[in-house]
Amino acid sequence: MTEKDFISTNLDTSILKEGKYTWKTPSNIALVKYWGKKKNQIPENTSISFTLDACFTLTTLEFSKKQNEKGSFEIYFEGEKKDEFKPKVATFFERIKGYCPFLTEYDFVIKSRNSFPHSSGIASSASGMSALALCVMSIERLISTEMIDDYFYKKASFLARLGSGSACRSIKGSIVVWGDHKEIKDSSNLFGVEFSSEVHSNFKNFHDTILLVDEGEKQVSSTVGHQLMYNHPYAQERFKQAEENISKIKEILKSGDLKAFTNIVESEALTLHSMMMTSKPYFILMKPNTLKIINKIWEFRKETNLNLCFTLDAGANVHLLYPENEKEEVSEFVINELIQFCQNNHYICDRVGLGAKLLN
Ligand code: DP6
Repeated sequence: MTEKDFISTNLDTSILKEGKYTWKTPSNIALVKYWGKKKNQIPENTSISFTLDACFTLTTLEFSKKQNEKGSFEIYFEGEKKDEFKPKVATFFERIKGYCPFLTEYDFVIKSRNSFPHSSGIASSASGMSALALCVMSIERLISTEMIDDYFYKKASFLARLGSGSACRSIKGSIVVWGDHKEIKDSSNLFGVEFSSEVHSNFKNFHDTILLVDEGEKQVSSTVGHQLMYNHPYAQERFKQAEENISKIKEILKSGDLKAFTNIVESEALTLHSMMMTSKPYFILMKPNTLKIINKIWEFRKETNLNLCFTLDAGANVHLLYPENEKEEVSEFVINELIQFCQNNHYICDRVGLGAKLLN
């Protein structure tokens, strides 16, 4: 599919005066990371993620025929009017209006909340933008003569990508690939696709315990972070490595080889941070407690031979990944050994989920 396929035509807005939709959309955690993008939110390399379950955004989009030429939108977050969120959403609307021209005919009120604290350091752009994209698609579906589910979800992912790259992986579950990869059927740079190859039962119901090391605002926004990959001395090698890691992880997901999974996932996390440490300007986003947790995980893994591993996103929090059948031992380990390194002892128990859900 190309960008042109996502430009909507033949829509009849005369039948639709007002309405509202609510979507619940999950966050996701990348196993092979997206870090570096080209113009129009096209990724430099393929990425793959687990869709999460407990970390989600609930968004209601209310719409009514616009009152004046200009049109307007308001945003409420957790019950409060938030004008500071407007620029990001305005940019999103601006980027998608060529694909959804009907948007210019309505006024909008967006009401959103997250299941996780806003200041937890968990990126809410993935779940937030995917929720908004799905609400927009629900309107489009209502005024279209016909729309098959496949198109609905692909375009939702396409629109979400224009809001925030990783958001395109927050539509479907439970494993999603984004980026055109020769070994992944139907994969695209334009939207995320459900990983449709065989997945070993070891990876069913995988857990992600998120250890909240630093509950502050992000030190480097992802937009700034991605820009650091322009003219980065190791960028081309990194992009190549990510494509190779996708091929490897595809086989690992099939074979159920948890040791090989650990190797790729931890290496990806550390590579992401190495890229930040070697860019200009350079950053260290890990905190002392991030490293303490990583070392504890390595020690515990050596002692027990269990299959827990970590990954990181562009911050200090640690995502502890482990299979369902090890959850008792790992929970005990988290409580006894790891929460001491979390800010205010905060952590979130999450697991792989099934994707977004329409609530009305
Ligand atoms: C480190 O999707 O937040 O989490 O496209 O600029 O909105 P923008 O960036 P974003 O970047 C996510 C980066 C990451 C890795 C990943 O999720 O793959």
